[in-house]
Amino acid sequence: MTGVLSREEIRRRVDALGPWFHNLDLRGVSTAPSHFLGDYPRVKWRRFAGVIPDNLQDKTVLDIGCNAGFYAMEMKRRGADRVLGLDTDDEYLAQARFAADVSGLKIEFRKMSAYDVGQLGEKFDLVIFMGVLYHLRHPLLALDLIHEHVARDLLLFQSMLRGSNQVDTVECDYDFWTTSQFDSPGYPKMHFIEHKYADDPTNWWAPNRACVEAMLRSAGFAVAAHPEEEVYLCRKVARSGAAAIPAIPRGAAR
Ligand SMILES: C[S@@+](CC[C@H](N)C(=O)[O-])C[C@H]1O[C@@H](n2cnc3c(N)ncnc32)[C@H](O)[C@@H]1O
Repeated sequence: MTGVLSREEIRRRVDALGPWFHNLDLRGVSTAPSHFLGDYPRVKWRRFAGVIPDNLQDKTVLDIGCNAGFYAMEMKRRGADRVLGLDTDDEYLAQARFAADVSGLKIEFRKMSAYDVGQLGEKFDLVIFMGVLYHLRHPLLALDLIHEHVARDLLLFQSMLRGSNQVDTVECDYDFWTTSQFDSPGYPKMHFIEHKYADDPTNWWAPNRACVEAMLRSAGFAVAAHPEEEVYLCRKVARSGAAAIPAIPRGAAR
């Protein structure tokens, strides 16, 4: 139990568990006060907090790629019945467990990949998939698996976006000799990052806005709100003409 830790002890544990990506306020101790994006992710959360129901009583929440648990903790503070946070990184999970404990919030954190959500055998009222899509080598597969296995109703989604903000209306089909659409800035495009971006080798993709909107539609998520440039609140809908979702062998390349 960390409820009895002094501020000095919290400071020591925070330093030992670092470096932190989430700047959390743990009883007056900031975990990442010099974050390159400012007071992150609180500054971002403030811009879209209004689209999430104030009262999540009786609701279940799954936070995929939860990092140190900022969003998981905010959902618990809104009264969610059950919150489960998943991440593949042991160090971030240790931060999340410590932060929730210090904050007196009962949240389960589990080491699991976005590709393995089918193993949960459970659907959640709200699935959070923030800042993970572009870190995956197989991003559309992850969205498909979320739709198939864990989303019951709402998906809170965010992606880094690069390229044009323009969104073209996509036709259902184009003639083989019609190619000009591919040169339009508003056609769905995802830039492949072979090496690193922002010194991070796990940044595999940089989609434009048209691309994330098309990927969400294609995976069976209808945009209900777009409160912030990179953030979408979606509702699960039936997929039209979607192919069956392939099973991924455990331990397959991530
Ligand atoms: C940019 S951080 C986003 C953290 C948080 N969701 C947010 O929006 O602030 C990406 C997180 O995704 C996690 N991650 C990367 N690949 C993952 C995977 N295959 N499954 C689950 N989490 C993953 C990373 O460890 C990291 O905590």
